[in-house]
Amino acid sequence: MLRALLPVILALSAAAPVFPLVLVPPHEQVARMARFVVSKSDWASVATISSREPVRGQPFSNSFSISDGPPGASSGTPYLYLTHLDISVQDLQVNPQVSLSMSLAQSSYCRNHGYDPQSPLCAHVILSGSLLQLNDSEEVCVAKRALFSRHPQMQDWPSDHGWFFSKINITQVWVLDYFGGVKTVTPDEYYRAQPYHTHTHRGSDTL
Ligand SMILES: *[C@@H]1O[C@H](CO)[C@@H](O)[C@H](O)[C@H]1NC(C)=O
Ligand SMILES: *[C@@H]1O[C@H](CO)[C@@H](O)[C@H](O)[C@H]1NC(C)=O
Repeated sequence: MLRALLPVILALSAAAPVFPLVLVPPHEQVARMARFVVSKSDWASVATISSREPVRGQPFSNSFSISDGPPGASSGTPYLYLTHLDISVQDLQVNPQVSLSMSLAQSSYCRNHGYDPQSPLCAHVILSGSLLQLNDSEEVCVAKRALFSRHPQMQDWPSDHGWFFSKINITQVWVLDYFGGVKTVTPDEYYRAQPYHTHTHRGSDTL
């Protein structure tokens, strides 16, 4: 089995010199899995409470580009590049409470393994919290590096749209991975976890 996988592993190493081998964390390590899914996601579904008729007060889900750090430097905090012209951002001005969801279905992992996106084997993560506009110039630099490294087109977005950097202040992490129902992780546990391991061990799986 291992012998059969070796050419695949070698091919992966050749294609991805930054991550010689990206390992999906074992499902028991819930906080790590949450960090892994977030770090792998270039976009998220962002749900707000709508402030617009005819759906005022109802959930409103939209897609946004995110980054929690440049490749290989995950921070755990999803950063966003937003404008007040955006319909969801207008909701957030009324109510900053937000829910972000990300899934390994956004990579080739679930498809390659034959896992339906709703399967508990296709890990997905939901972050609850509030969205904060960044004011601190140091954190703006961090957010800019995180986003522009993974979304280079952002640099050319129309400058008259009033773009600003923001982040989610995470209050709860929900992980749907493996069987046994949803698992929760506190922000502390989440930030303490390391998303990556670069050496092989039993039970790990590659992305
Ligand atoms: C930035 O300033 C606004 C307005 O004072 C405040 O509501 C928000 O929490 C601040 N953002 C951060 C990340 O502290
Ligand atoms: C972030 O959320 C925590 C927990 O709910 C809260 O105590 C804190 O004030 C929030 N931070 C900001 C800047 O709003």
